[in-house]
Amino acid sequence: EKGGYEHFMLKEIFEQPRSILDSMRGRLELESGHLNMAGFRAYEQKFVNAHRIIIVACGTSWHAGLVAEYLIEDLARIPVEVEYASEFRYRNPVISERDIVIAISQSGETADTLAALELAKSKGATIFGICNVVGSSIARATDAGAYTHAGPEIGVASTKAFTAQVTVLALLAMCIGQRRGTLSDTKLRELMVELHSIPTKVEKALKLDAEIQRISETFKDVPNFLYLGRGYNFPVALEGALKLKEISYIHAEGYPAAEMKHGPIALIDENMPVVVIATRDSSYEKVVSNIQEVKARKGRIIAVVTEGDTTIPAMAEFVVEVPYTSEVLVPLVSVIPLQLLSYHIAVMRGCNVDQPRNLAKSVTVE
Ligand code: M6R
Repeated sequence: EKGGYEHFMLKEIFEQPRSILDSMRGRLELESGHLNMAGFRAYEQKFVNAHRIIIVACGTSWHAGLVAEYLIEDLARIPVEVEYASEFRYRNPVISERDIVIAISQSGETADTLAALELAKSKGATIFGICNVVGSSIARATDAGAYTHAGPEIGVASTKAFTAQVTVLALLAMCIGQRRGTLSDTKLRELMVELHSIPTKVEKALKLDAEIQRISETFKDVPNFLYLGRGYNFPVALEGALKLKEISYIHAEGYPAAEMKHGPIALIDENMPVVVIATRDSSYEKVVSNIQEVKARKGRIIAVVTEGDTTIPAMAEFVVEVPYTSEVLVPLVSVIPLQLLSYHIAVMRGCNVDQPRNLAKSVTVE
């Protein structure tokens, strides 16, 4: 059942080229240049006129929501707020009929996410769901939605569900942008071609496995980790840190790289590993200066860079290269080495990676 892999988590990490492809199959038609999302089409007008999009989710799905904030604001120019479902529902939030609430959930059974969308629904908002489990409670409670086609995710640590969510959210942002006229035909075409090539790029990123295993050996006994990223890679930093803490029990924090100087920089010394996601994009130069700041304090840098980078290898202790892709799709590729890093470190520490202590696959209590 684990298809020859030692753990479900590893199997699921390696399934990603396929699960990403399955999540865009029939939706992205490169030849005709069409995007087909039935759930979107039914509520097209609502999306076009929306004043605001509120995303509610928990955990990894909340991180996918953060990526969607960047995507939707960038491509469709609608203001987006991303909320922890558990905070949103207890806050007496301001919601109207002109709002669209997107609920993201792999299991479709997360109690807080379900309650948050029920609240928004009672205030007249339109509810759009991004779920993986067909017929789940959240899927049934929404007005419309788009399923991720990641297949069953057994490992408690979410991996392929995250990339499937980001894929579907990218498609959704493209649909809204096209319909609102905020995304030019040329740019849309470019993104479609790029998204289409993501499974191949993820395949390539998975080849880093042996290299990451070697890096993991060096860091398996440390008590802390810091993860830094900017822009589209900020949510990836959060996701990398969550993966590490939940399965290896190493304390890890994800931070927007520029926020480091407002506090966490005090933690950096020669014992602190800092994972920096520093792919070639609009914040690259800034991230390079953040790496210098870490280096000046003797932090141990593990950098995720774009293939062919010549600057960062001279500064970092370890460098892993991922294929180039458009900035807006970069999380789909840059998260892969972080998933592998957490997996290998957890295995080396003798942890139960598929069923970490204190955690359940779906959190059905509030
Ligand atoms: O099923 P959901 O996507 O609603 O689950 C949300 C979180 O409980 C989940 O992502 C959790 O954080 C994972 N264990 C992260 O790997």
